[in-house]
Amino acid sequence: MLPMSPPLVGSIPSIPPSSLDLEAAIRQMRHEKNAVILAHYYQEPDIQDLADFVGDSLELSRKAAATDADMIVFCGVKFMAEVAKILSPQKKVLLPDMRAGCSLETSCPPASFKAFREAHPDHVALTYINCSAEVKALSDIIVTSSNAEAIIRQIPENQEIIFAPDWHLGQFLIQKTGRPMLLWQGACMVHERFSEEGLVRLKTRHPQAAIIAHPECPAPILRHADHVGSTSSLIAFTRNTPHQTYIVATELGILHQMRLASPEKTFLDVPGLDSTCACNACPYMRMNTVEKLYQCMATEQPEIILPEALRLAALRPLETMLAMSPPPVRA
Ligand code: 13P
Ligand code: SF4
Repeated sequence: MLPMSPPLVGSIPSIPPSSLDLEAAIRQMRHEKNAVILAHYYQEPDIQDLADFVGDSLELSRKAAATDADMIVFCGVKFMAEVAKILSPQKKVLLPDMRAGCSLETSCPPASFKAFREAHPDHVALTYINCSAEVKALSDIIVTSSNAEAIIRQIPENQEIIFAPDWHLGQFLIQKTGRPMLLWQGACMVHERFSEEGLVRLKTRHPQAAIIAHPECPAPILRHADHVGSTSSLIAFTRNTPHQTYIVATELGILHQMRLASPEKTFLDVPGLDSTCACNACPYMRMNTVEKLYQCMATEQPEIILPEALRLAALRPLETMLAMSPPPVRA
């Protein structure tokens, strides 16, 4: 291990010195600043290993709401860090790279969503958490992939629903619950690009393997799946079922926790449509690096700042989500 270069706080160079043990420096700042590092499963393994908690969107929201840390360092994408700020306004919330967006968020501009809502005034607006704070503020209930089905089942039968922004998740939920919903036409650029042909080829070579998929995948991928669920649910499935091999149709960062939980098992990632690109890596999640994590903790920038009126408007549908969610299934 390389020696640590003092000082860790104060005048911080924009490029960390190469002699600095970044992991040790991050751990020391976390202690000194009473910070908590939250990471999504799609982050690089070295970031996941540094985090205090790694989870799916719902679990990360709950952690952000419950933490007694002074600072939340969110290793994920911007909408997730915004949720942390909305639920924990008194905390300083940092995101290592403010450009870490989400294609689903981009596919649902607030002005267009507002017009969509206004065109359907009798519908309740159920909105996937992968959207901007502005779109949340225009919604009635936020959902994640782990609680959407349970929340839809609590909405009275005669109540019409609009669902945004993920069309594939919406289709999956309609099929699962039998509830018609008017769908926004958004999609995730990662999950939409998995190759069905590549998936079938893997299954042909590994006929005993279980196929697992995130519900942001299109129906031609989901129809092959033995299990469909949120990132946490996919990891739990690999831990709790006896298959030796799993074919995984979601962002490849998730393989890290699967391999840690079941080192004796084999995990195969589904290729993207274009064999020349790493299509199954989310380019937004990949914008966070250990170097940027160090830098953001040292400088306490970039910080998520939301106008209070917007925060309060977005808080309402998030609180409704938390109240309607089934209890957590893990500690
Ligand atoms: P989860 O809520 O299942 O972690 O999904 C988040 C996400 O962004 C999937 O692309
Ligand atoms: Fe957004 Fe897709 Fe990346 Fe998830 S994987 S953060 S939905 S772009």
